[in-house]
Amino acid sequence: MSRRLLIALLVAVPMTAALAAPPDAARRAELETLLYQDCGSCHGMTLRGGLGPALPRSRMQAYDRDALAALILQGIPGTAMPGWAPLLSEDDARWLADHLQHDTPLDR
Ligand code: HEC
Repeated sequence: MSRRLLIALLVAVPMTAALAAPPDAARRAELETLLYQDCGSCHGMTLRGGLGPALPRSRMQAYDRDALAALILQGIPGTAMPGWAPLLSEDDARWLADHLQHDTPLDR
């Protein structure tokens, strides 16, 4: 392996690891605010529904966690559900998906 390639790898690998880090406590707090305010503007501040459907844990658990994260990032084309990829990383979306499945106050 050339020395230049080795150096490139030594620099790139830790950078990738940092980018893939799960959201820290401050980011998790921002994501919760986003969920109940931004998502809540359509799904209701308590997620009980509005312009968009209610998002109870029981319903969210019908999705695979990564499929739910992809839905959040891509939106639902042809509907009012926007894609959030411009604002959220994949890890952010996975955290939100997990939160929707297990940690919101709305059971069903
Ligand atoms: C501009 C309004 C709007 C906003 C903002 C919005 N949604 Fe939606 N969402 C919708 C609509 C409308 C649907 C239903 C689309 C359809 O007809 O299938 C939907 C559907 C969904 C579904 C699928 C529900 C189900 O029962 O299968 C999920 C999950 C979801 N949204 C999550 C989110 C999350 C998380 C956010 C914030 C990051 C968000 N939405 C922000 C309008 C919105």
